[in-house]
Amino acid sequence: MTAVNPLAGKALSSFLAGKVAIVTGGNSGIGKAIVEQLAQLGAKVVIDYRSNPEATEDLEEQIGAYGGCSFGVQADVSKLEDLQRLIQAAVTRYGRLDVMVNNAGVETRTSILDTTPEDYDKVLNVNLRGVFFSTQYAARQMISQGGGGRVINISSVHEDWPMPNNTPYCLSKGGMRMLTRTAGVELAPHGVTVVNVGPGAVATPINDATMNDPKLLAQLNAAIPLGRMAQPEEIAAVVGFLASDAASYITATTIFADGGIMQSSPGL
Ligand code: BGC
Repeated sequence: MTAVNPLAGKALSSFLAGKVAIVTGGNSGIGKAIVEQLAQLGAKVVIDYRSNPEATEDLEEQIGAYGGCSFGVQADVSKLEDLQRLIQAAVTRYGRLDVMVNNAGVETRTSILDTTPEDYDKVLNVNLRGVFFSTQYAARQMISQGGGGRVINISSVHEDWPMPNNTPYCLSKGGMRMLTRTAGVELAPHGVTVVNVGPGAVATPINDATMNDPKLLAQLNAAIPLGRMAQPEEIAAVVGFLASDAASYITATTIFADGGIMQSSPGL
């Protein structure tokens, strides 16, 4: 059998041409880099955000300036009616949904000994319940329009790797691991693939405390075989690939982009 290279003959900017994507938590950190990446590759992008409309407007403007297409929707992924409204907004404006990127996530960095029910609910509602129903609503839309689609969940090395004093977060990402594996199998007959991207430590606001403490940062860098944290663009590049036809045979699994940290360190 001759191998087909789906990238052959395609200019970078038309790699995702005709595709419509939603990115949750899309106006900061990894989400913002994903929005930029997908728009640069030619997708029409819906930027979900919860706060800071100014950042979303700046991003829309920046994308418009190089001929890209995007618009912002304020929606809280822990609220099911907001999630439905978000997907409806994409379909109303752009006619379909091809790629659902569940990126929004929170962590409380609390020990199991003093995590409150409120901490627990906050993390699990955004990171797991929100992703479960987003996957359900997105898959329903993809199945009804036909032609398959992609659900890409931004997980973490901590879907597999304990992080003491961040138990609710690890629990949510561990749940996401099985959500992706199970939903990936279940949705495969419809051509809808479900994949996790598992970043390690990335230079985004979620890690400000570490980045602002030279001793902690040096300790972290020393534990990473590549010797440094990732830039958000290095995670977004993986999402760009997974959103494309080039990733047609990848489902129900996790692609880690962690600089090797899971293989070398007993957990931080
Ligand atoms: C967490 C970060 C942590 C990183 C590596 C991420 O999932 O959000 O706080 O630095 O994993 O441990």
